[in-house]
Amino acid sequence: MYLTAEEKAMLAGDFGPGAKRAMEIIVALGKIYEAQDLVPVQSVQVAGVSYKNLGDAGLEFLREWAGQGTRVRVPTTLNPAGMDLIHWRELGISAGFARKQMAVIEAFEAMGIAPSCSCTPYLVGNRPAFGQHIAWSESSAVSFANSVLGARTNREGGPSALAAAVTGRTARYGLHLDENRRATHIIEVRCPVTSEADLGALGYLVGRRVKNGVPYFKGLGDKGQGIGGVGQGRLKALGAAMAASGAVALYHVEGVTPEARAGDVVAAEAETVVIDSLDEGYVALNSPIDEIDLVGIGCPHASLVEIEEVARWLEGKRVKAKLWITTARETRERAREKGLVELIEAAGGRVVADTCLVVAPIEELGLQSMATNSAKAAFYAPTHSGLMVRFGGLEQCLEAAITGKWLG
Ligand code: F3S
Repeated sequence: MYLTAEEKAMLAGDFGPGAKRAMEIIVALGKIYEAQDLVPVQSVQVAGVSYKNLGDAGLEFLREWAGQGTRVRVPTTLNPAGMDLIHWRELGISAGFARKQMAVIEAFEAMGIAPSCSCTPYLVGNRPAFGQHIAWSESSAVSFANSVLGARTNREGGPSALAAAVTGRTARYGLHLDENRRATHIIEVRCPVTSEADLGALGYLVGRRVKNGVPYFKGLGDKGQGIGGVGQGRLKALGAAMAASGAVALYHVEGVTPEARAGDVVAAEAETVVIDSLDEGYVALNSPIDEIDLVGIGCPHASLVEIEEVARWLEGKRVKAKLWITTARETRERAREKGLVELIEAAGGRVVADTCLVVAPIEELGLQSMATNSAKAAFYAPTHSGLMVRFGGLEQCLEAAITGKWLG
């Protein structure tokens, strides 16, 4: 594998032990995937931030790396942590968990990474341009960056993303190369897809079928099956679900996503898959429960538009179940300025920053059941948080928050 003089110097330890370790990781990956060389990256998103997932071993790994004077060289953002970094007490998080979580954040900060703690970095300042090479490690954000923005990244793991941040490089393989960005499956959507939940159910079915392939959606765009203008925000639900039930890191939507608009992106041998009903997806993501303890909106993290939708719906109402809308801290501040946080709090709900329902220690909060409009959250919550889940549209979830019951 070709390395520049600077890359060789990093590998030799001339830039310190932290950079040497990082370059060793990048080079090892490059060798495994037979990369010809490395490519400079413009930004990095690091996952593996919640202490719930890292545990003491992960915390020690980060502390040791930070302790070697390691610093990032490119703009780097962090995935959600296990709690709201400021209002953790109000969420019922224990002091023991909070102490460990803050130690994780301090290690990242020591490396020069601001605690953005969001899985939608593209909504809060880390928004790559078309064609830019990046190294991101949050499967839903990877999917959005590749597909909706046309940037180029593989599905990095936490350590490999951090190594890319420290070296400013990643190995040039996988989705950094044109030939791997062609669609392996044509998905013919022949049923109505009209809400985020529908997009999630569709994503769940497609991810399960294509695994780590590259789907090309037909019939989903402006002239498609009733979706009527697939906004960028709504596509995050589709990509998140495919990345959860499968390992889809890139998809194309006819007439909508940038590479599909730019030309022919379908491989000659692509297999066709017909989706004529979403029922199987809804059935698979629902448990047979009626009582709802918690309603979770904002997986991936909610945009300002989504928060506004919830706030307007809740005006003058009062929730019975817990209601969490998870989002980036910056988005919450913008929502607060518009009076939306106040509206949601007046109804008894919470706009929770820095964390989410899957990476927070929900199992410690004594909750049994959750309703969500996110297929990704519905997919992971039973195993990651020990919750029984109901999955449906936003209004159905908000009704559940008001009544404490799943209706219909
Ligand atoms: Fe984001 Fe957590 Fe969902 S990291 S995509 S809100 S599981």
